[in-house]
Amino acid sequence: MDLRGTMRITIDGRLEIGGCACDRLAREFGTPLYIMDEEDIRARCREVASALSRAYPDTFVAYAGKAFSTLAMCKLVHQEGLGLDVVSGGELYTALQAGFPPERILFHGSNKSVEEVETGVRAGILRFVVDNLHELDLLEDVARRFRRRVHVQIRLTPGIEPHTHEYIRTGQLDSKFGLGIADGQAMVAVKRVLASDFLVLEGLHCHIGSQILAVEPFGMAAAVVMDFASEVRKTTGHSVREVNLGGGLGVRYRPGDERVPLARYASLISRVVREKCLAHGLEMPRLMVEPGRYIVGEAGTTLYTVGAIKEIPGIRKYVSVDGGLADNPRVALYHASYEAVAATRASAPPEELVSVAGRHCESGDMLIWDIQLPRLRPGDLLAVLSTGAYTYSMSSNYNRYPKPAVVFVRAGVADVVVARETYQDVVARDRIPARFEPSQDASASSCVGTA
Ligand code: LLP
Repeated sequence: MDLRGTMRITIDGRLEIGGCACDRLAREFGTPLYIMDEEDIRARCREVASALSRAYPDTFVAYAGKAFSTLAMCKLVHQEGLGLDVVSGGELYTALQAGFPPERILFHGSNKSVEEVETGVRAGILRFVVDNLHELDLLEDVARRFRRRVHVQIRLTPGIEPHTHEYIRTGQLDSKFGLGIADGQAMVAVKRVLASDFLVLEGLHCHIGSQILAVEPFGMAAAVVMDFASEVRKTTGHSVREVNLGGGLGVRYRPGDERVPLARYASLISRVVREKCLAHGLEMPRLMVEPGRYIVGEAGTTLYTVGAIKEIPGIRKYVSVDGGLADNPRVALYHASYEAVAATRASAPPEELVSVAGRHCESGDMLIWDIQLPRLRPGDLLAVLSTGAYTYSMSSNYNRYPKPAVVFVRAGVADVVVARETYQDVVARDRIPARFEPSQDASASSCVGTA
């Protein structure tokens, strides 16, 4: 088994992450539990920043907060010197509350609201990544009202289809994201920004998809963006100063998976940008990337307790755990597949083929179809690996389950960074209309028949 980050298995077969034994974490914080390996997150931040800056002179790495965003995470990202990409008012609020410097924040999103744009402009964020022409109107209007110049990157749809699940593939022309190069929309947007007194064109952006394990699609995307930068220069005379190639770097989920080779990724994209600059006579732009999953994906482990076990002779054995769809919708949504470890018998040999089921009322609520594990009993702990990205951030209260806690572990210390929800939290925002309660004065809150 490929252990992740600081994981190790003790001689008595317990899985330890960040120096904390999983059974201890379960006793202290309960299950399900999101465990984040802080050292691994920090190592990935440094790895991306240094791989890129070794390959290219002027770089900027922004962590894509949609993968996993909390106050502590924003602090960590800032401590590690990365910028931050946010996609919503909520992610922006989280960042600002954490004291993240606005001048290192990029704001994405394909349908930003007036309020979201106003908050970003007021805060003075680094860049708005403009997704469509409507957003340009919005930005122009807010910038004029606030008497501020707003610095933008234009998100291109480069027309590239990397091999990944169709719901997490975004670079093809038929996509809700970005402005098409092929259909001329991107150039329309460029001209409008250049004609504006309030908007400043800083760069071009593209993001081709997520969980991409090969480097070639990134090279193709870089080429397309640079060719468009050359078109922009020819058509308008404007030199683009920034090229942002988005995120998408893939990580290990299943045994035998390899993370995208980072050094090759960095050298490929920087070589393409450099060569295109030479070929088109362009100045070298600042090179930006926005990895999310790569930073947190492998650092996350979800710890569950085994409950009901159902064997259908000759067909399948279902091992149910105390979580599932609500804390990790990725299996149901994308047929994502995961690897798991019996957390207190991690060195025991596999004994049987089982499927790990969630506890929610949904047949599709499965965490793992077909995995070889030691024989599990109710009460055993099961650790599902590589759950750091897009699990907590996509979690729900389906079936009215409270959301699990998130802990950061490092050097034997575990700190809660998101407290476990309670049943009180689950009903906290519910309201019962007064008219549902028997009242003394039946006409008091009624507007029916009071003509
Ligand atoms: N930049 C932009 C503009 C993006 O749209 C995304 C992800 C990223 C960066 C970060 O991508 P990453 O490095 O994490 O692949 N919920 C899906 C993934 C959706 C990705 C959306 N955009 C999943 O669970 O697989």
